[in-house]
Amino acid sequence: MSDTAAKTYPPSDAMAKGAHVNAETYTRMYEASVSDPDGFWREQGERVDWIKPFTQVKDVDYTLGNVHINWYADGELNVSANCIDRHLETRGDQTAIIWEPDSPDDEAKHITYKELHANTCKMANTLRDLGVGKGDRVILYLPMIPEAAYAMLACARIGAIHSIVFAGFSPDALAARINGSEAKIVITADEAPRGGRNTALKTNADQALLHCKDTVKCLVVKRTGGQTTWVEGRDYDYNALAAEAATTCEPEVMNAEDPLFILYTSGSTGQPKGVVHTTGGYLVYAAMTHEISFDYHDGDVYWCTADVGWVTGHSYIVYGPLANGATTLMFEGVPTYPDASRFWQVCEKHKVNQFYTAPTALRALMGKGDDFVKSADLSSLKVLGTVGEPINPEAWKWYNEVIGGGRCPIVDTWWQTETGGHLMTPLPGAHAMKPGAAMKPFFGIKPVVLEPTSAEELKGDPAEGVLCITDSWPGQMRTIWGDHERFEKTYFSDYPGYYFTGDGCKRDADGDYWITGRVDDVINVSGHRMGTAEVESALVAHGKVAEAAVVGYPHDIKGQGIYCYVTLMGGEEPSEELRLELRNWVRTEIGPIASPDLIQWAPGLPKTRSGKIMRRILRKIAEDDFGALGDTSTLAEPAVVDDLIENRMNRK
Ligand code: WTA
Repeated sequence: MSDTAAKTYPPSDAMAKGAHVNAETYTRMYEASVSDPDGFWREQGERVDWIKPFTQVKDVDYTLGNVHINWYADGELNVSANCIDRHLETRGDQTAIIWEPDSPDDEAKHITYKELHANTCKMANTLRDLGVGKGDRVILYLPMIPEAAYAMLACARIGAIHSIVFAGFSPDALAARINGSEAKIVITADEAPRGGRNTALKTNADQALLHCKDTVKCLVVKRTGGQTTWVEGRDYDYNALAAEAATTCEPEVMNAEDPLFILYTSGSTGQPKGVVHTTGGYLVYAAMTHEISFDYHDGDVYWCTADVGWVTGHSYIVYGPLANGATTLMFEGVPTYPDASRFWQVCEKHKVNQFYTAPTALRALMGKGDDFVKSADLSSLKVLGTVGEPINPEAWKWYNEVIGGGRCPIVDTWWQTETGGHLMTPLPGAHAMKPGAAMKPFFGIKPVVLEPTSAEELKGDPAEGVLCITDSWPGQMRTIWGDHERFEKTYFSDYPGYYFTGDGCKRDADGDYWITGRVDDVINVSGHRMGTAEVESALVAHGKVAEAAVVGYPHDIKGQGIYCYVTLMGGEEPSEELRLELRNWVRTEIGPIASPDLIQWAPGLPKTRSGKIMRRILRKIAEDDFGALGDTSTLAEPAVVDDLIENRMNRK
């Protein structure tokens, strides 16, 4: 697919003319960014307002044992002041956030920058009154409501470090994150309405808090008014406190390298790791990529459909857009409620100009037919974007033709929780897009394709191998919370001297990049990143399970589905009831997003003689690719494989 023969889609003349970056400026700026990173990023650092200007730009070392990443390290600033206060004079009455609720029957809210300021200050003062200060950790476990943005910005304002836990995670997962970050307080809501159903968030938080220190407080935002139990002395009613709180709050002076947030994400081994992003470099990079990748112009209405529980929501609903003084839309609901026209109705209602979503949502909506789209006027759309996984050409074509009417460039943005912002994407006014290609590196990004085993840099085109990045960029993560050694080992030890992305990649004959998917044990389910190790450890925590191995397999809508091989304890009999029980078990242990798609009973798992499970083989079986099992000569018991093939689930 990834060859020069693929049809390309150049930007229209009008787009190329009006865009922040065109083909010529891209080449010039890219050259400058890689030949003189210090000079380039010094200039870009001016995108944000500094309380104390930086004099240093970059201080980075990827040498194992000494990995450190610092940007603008002697500068001082406040992120919340950059996202709010500095806009008050020029655009205080402009809408900062459009909030669209779950149900179209409820009213949308338009929150101006002035109101955002007052509400953020109220939240900040409330947190301060509850004893939260600079450097303290605050867990957010919230629906997609404006208070989620207020809480993020309030933490930034007082120098507290937020860690958002997606509202779809279970009480156990929430407890692990509260304890892992040693948080002082959890901000939650009574209930989270989504797709017409309410999730009892406060009840989940109550359960989680049973496993946490009893000093952890809980601040509860009213969303539905649903019943909650109340623990005196631990629980605080946000709405009551906010009514009394002052609407101004002096922003804390933060160093550029003070942590802004921790976001837990899945890795190839063990439990999720707390990715740490800091203040100055992150904000510069989020603001710059938001403006340039989406070609955002003043007055545009921009909508990213992600949840703030994921990094996309951090960088491209809240921090990037608000740093740019944009109008950003925040949607509480789901694409298919009340029906599959919801996204498009919202685009029409709020005259959305830039629309950013995930391929899995597009595939699901594409399957419902075009009538749902045709009911809406989508003429306001200018730029479309995707993120989270490679987009298949059919979905790309549908997005381009049916949603974009053939006139909107599609930015296929490749990046990661760890990278803070886009690392590769075609730019709307600069590049001729190829369906499914991440195309070109963003400014300052130097991608390399390495031969996986020899780590040799593949210089010619085309090339295929693992994707690494030489050199740093301001939005890069700085460490894993509480475990810098794990940080070095995960990202800098397999391919010394490079940042290892965990992704495979092709560079075609034109030198354009195509992401081929993870090369480790991370899977991408409906755009949600998951470690197979997490699902395995949930499964083996069940009393009837002796052993489990989990792999991804191709899934039409989700991109990848979760395929579990389960060996039961001696004496346990496989049954449909047990299958259901295990599925529910994983849902409770981790959350509905980790729900196994297929569970195959495996009397034995393929292992090497030293007892290591050969996942490569299990992956091939799940993919229905029996011809390519590779070398099975090191298996302790080769017959195990025949049994697994014979009983493979989901036969077509
Ligand atoms: C995958 C999401 C192909 C990739 C921002 C990466 C993509 C992982 C794309 C990070 C894309 C993200 N094309 N693959 N445009 N965007 N990915 O941390 O495998 O949730 O490593 O960050 O998603 O997922 P994460």
